[in-house]
Amino acid sequence: MAGGVIVSATAGKDYPGNLTLHVFITCVIAATGGLIFGYDLGISGGVISMDDFLKKFFPAVYRKQSLVHQSVNQYCAFDSQILTLFTSSLYLAALVSSIFASYITRKLGRRASMVAGGVLFAVGAILNGFAQNLAMLIIGRLLLGFGVGSANQSVPIYLSEVAPHRYRGGLNMMFQLSITIGILVADLLNYFFAKIDGWGWRLSLGIALVPALIIIIGSFFLPETPNSLIERDHHEKAKEKLIELRGVPNVDEEFNDLITASEAAKLVKNSWRNIIKRQYRPHLVMAICIPMFQQLTGMNVIVFYAPVLFRTIGFKNQASLMSALITGIINSLATVVSIFTVDKVGRRALYLEGSLQMFICQLVVALAIGLKFGVNGNPGDLPTWYAVIVVILICIFVAGYAWSWGPLGWLVPSEIFPLEIRSAAQSITVSVNMIFTFIIAQVFTAMLCHMKFGLFLFFAFFIMVMGLFIYYLLPETKGVPIEEMITVWKNHPYWRKYYDDLPSPKQVELA
Ligand code: BGC
Repeated sequence: MAGGVIVSATAGKDYPGNLTLHVFITCVIAATGGLIFGYDLGISGGVISMDDFLKKFFPAVYRKQSLVHQSVNQYCAFDSQILTLFTSSLYLAALVSSIFASYITRKLGRRASMVAGGVLFAVGAILNGFAQNLAMLIIGRLLLGFGVGSANQSVPIYLSEVAPHRYRGGLNMMFQLSITIGILVADLLNYFFAKIDGWGWRLSLGIALVPALIIIIGSFFLPETPNSLIERDHHEKAKEKLIELRGVPNVDEEFNDLITASEAAKLVKNSWRNIIKRQYRPHLVMAICIPMFQQLTGMNVIVFYAPVLFRTIGFKNQASLMSALITGIINSLATVVSIFTVDKVGRRALYLEGSLQMFICQLVVALAIGLKFGVNGNPGDLPTWYAVIVVILICIFVAGYAWSWGPLGWLVPSEIFPLEIRSAAQSITVSVNMIFTFIIAQVFTAMLCHMKFGLFLFFAFFIMVMGLFIYYLLPETKGVPIEEMITVWKNHPYWRKYYDDLPSPKQVELA
């Protein structure tokens, strides 16, 4: 049975390299690139539930929502395409910029994309903080999106390239940790700023400048990755950096393999055209499916709309923001769990456990909401214990996501692509992630309005599919050096047929 076979994680080489303070600090700084994405993900949900913001930019939604206690159908109270466009416009912009960023990342290095991302994001934050009309608001959001696209294209690759292979999982996941910290800080600020009458939303949006400055300034202290230096023919410098990063004097084996990988990569003139070739089929499938499935977990419904969702189940405004805060804390803490376990238990174990946990939660949430709200969306008076149970279920769901699909959704793509297609493939990953983030952000309120509690069953179905996808199709990549990753596909029971002409695979049967 395909899924009963795993590929030996030690099939590749084992280069010397320590988890030095130098590499750790380098990764911490680079990972702050996730803050801008996270801050943005977290801020919009809270802002769109602030009355002053709605009154100024979306008066029609405000009127509809203030009638909410009289409304018969709670499922539809927040259904407004214009309002969701505010949230989702950013992700379309991010999609476009990640494609441009692939060229910058390849030709000018990973750092250049990070700085560009930070600068665009900073300008967007200023425009949003001072927004006078809807146009300023949307243009600001597009700029934020351009920033996020560039950063997400470059930061995960950067981390996977500088990290020693045995610690790559944990170090790369600091990107996701930054995302969750960004979301949490945004939730926290929303909670306080919502109390400032009139202009609290301006502070929420404008403070996005701070994470942008962190990544801009931080980037100046970062070394370029050895892989990128070699890719751009700076071999001497690359070797120096590798010695510094690995903390051992003899890095010859890894260095020579990086050169070999780079030479092979140079034969490939156009990585976009190459990625559709047969030998890159597993990579292409993963570049598309992993980010798509990450979004189809339904996590972003919680990230964007937790305050709205909690209001729907009967919480007052401040209580809703407070509950969103609780889910934010769980999101960060559970990410730390995966940072410490991913290089020990591996990627597959986390993916599978997280999928099961999320699947069960979505089913029970559907049941809990369905029982109380029925199909007409009129729950009558909701008891406190009921709302508490829904919040607890959502927290268990968030924990499951945060130690599986959340961080692995960025880690696995960034570590499986060979150098010759890495930038282009990462752009595909970012673009697909953004398309699906956009779709979820854009259609969630309409879906809730039409599918009612069935929406949660919809997500449960996809979580089941993605669990099976991982079980059958994703090889274990723990501990395999990044430029040696080809071995895992050649040894995989399904993907090996794409490498038929190569020597027979080495497999380890699970007991
Ligand atoms: C996803 C985001 C999501 C976040 C939640 C990230 O990995 O890409 O869409 O909002 O995780 O923590």
